[in-house]
Amino acid sequence: MPTKKPLNVGMVGYGFMGRAHSNAFRQAYRFFDLPYEPVLKAVAARNTDRVKAFADTWGYQTVESDWRALVSRKDIDVIDIASPNDTHAEIAVAAAKAGKIVMCEKPLARTAAEGERMVAAVEAAGVPNMVWYNYRRAPAVMLLKQLLDEGRFGRIFHYRSVFLQDWTISKDLPQGGEGLWRLDVGVAGSGVTGDLLAHNIDTALWLNGPIAEVTAMTETFIKERKHNLTGRVEPVGIDDASAFLCRFENGSMATFEATRYARGHKALYTLEINGENASAKWDLHDLHRLQYFEHGEEGRLRGWRSIHITDSDHPYMKHWWVPGLQIGYEHTFVHQVADFLEALGANKTIGPTFRDGLSTDYVTDAVLRSARSGRWETVAANI
Ligand SMILES: NC(=O)c1ccc[n+]([C@@H]2O[C@H](COP(=O)([O-])OP(=O)(O)OC[C@H]3O[C@@H](n4cnc5c(N)ncnc54)[C@H](O)[C@@H]3O)[C@@H](O)[C@H]2O)c1
Repeated sequence: MPTKKPLNVGMVGYGFMGRAHSNAFRQAYRFFDLPYEPVLKAVAARNTDRVKAFADTWGYQTVESDWRALVSRKDIDVIDIASPNDTHAEIAVAAAKAGKIVMCEKPLARTAAEGERMVAAVEAAGVPNMVWYNYRRAPAVMLLKQLLDEGRFGRIFHYRSVFLQDWTISKDLPQGGEGLWRLDVGVAGSGVTGDLLAHNIDTALWLNGPIAEVTAMTETFIKERKHNLTGRVEPVGIDDASAFLCRFENGSMATFEATRYARGHKALYTLEINGENASAKWDLHDLHRLQYFEHGEEGRLRGWRSIHITDSDHPYMKHWWVPGLQIGYEHTFVHQVADFLEALGANKTIGPTFRDGLSTDYVTDAVLRSARSGRWETVAANI
């Protein structure tokens, strides 16, 4: 294999996403022919013992206990933000000012106003940037994007998408602190709207274009929980469930729903799109399949087909195993690194950029606004 240019990565956070990203940085250049080889240079988090253990497991060369030290290091090319939502803006703005490439976990920010500052910072600095909306890079979802771009669906009438979980039903679950920051509105920004629906919205905007207006309802089923950091019982500020209707600018109508109260569902992300000539469905629990229906087929044989996305002419698949063998969740992150580095080498921009992430933040802001006002709300235009 030809020698690749090293690209030194400094990652913030060593949790769930810290592992997913580290694995992706390690795998991408081995399976894809890329112009860069990511080097796991340093990882930063506040707990020194745990960050050291993480660095040993994944092969990071050094550790930092403060992300500021990471950002100021001259030997780091990329700052990768894999820490909770309240840290994204400050780290991203500082990293952009320091001239680093910035990769940031989703949602880009807790609010669109915060996201605007981040977009302004990366664009003023002229640094490459991306948001880890990884589901775009499930091969089946990428195939759907290709089919839509080829015009096979005709006019789009409907889009519907859900993200269902069940892990916060117990009223005894505390909020806040390590592992439970998602229940603390100050840290997370919102509940399932920013955490789960943000994924559905990013994919939808990418596949079906901009959303014009929304009408939403949210619910907080458990109103008070003990806070892990204060020890006190405090009001819960997040939305436990969120549902909205919307109209896309292309005239199609849509429904979206996310909840952490759908008993039995752990991470059921589904999407469906219905056009004049074709329909398609995708389900994260069966992520290597795309369900596809084409009306133009001979009537006697017309029907839903379940395409097993493992053949070498399917997106990304020729880089993996032989036809028929599936890949999984972690590969979506590997694909994101591969696409990003390929674009970087060619001096091109690929989405989702910070600006794309901001588009999702505008929709989530409108959803939360509508849930409060009880009215239809227009989605703010991108800056
Ligand atoms: N793309 C996806 O599918 C996906 C999935 C899960 C989480 N996320 C996003 O990734 C981010 C992290 O989520 P997670 O599930 O990995 O969380 P986590 O709780 O598993 O890990 C968070 C990490 O951040 C560290 N951290 C917290 N505050 C910090 C600070 N001030 N400075 C440095 N490090 C700090 C923690 O020590 C921990 O290592 C969130 O923005 C979340 O929304 C995205």
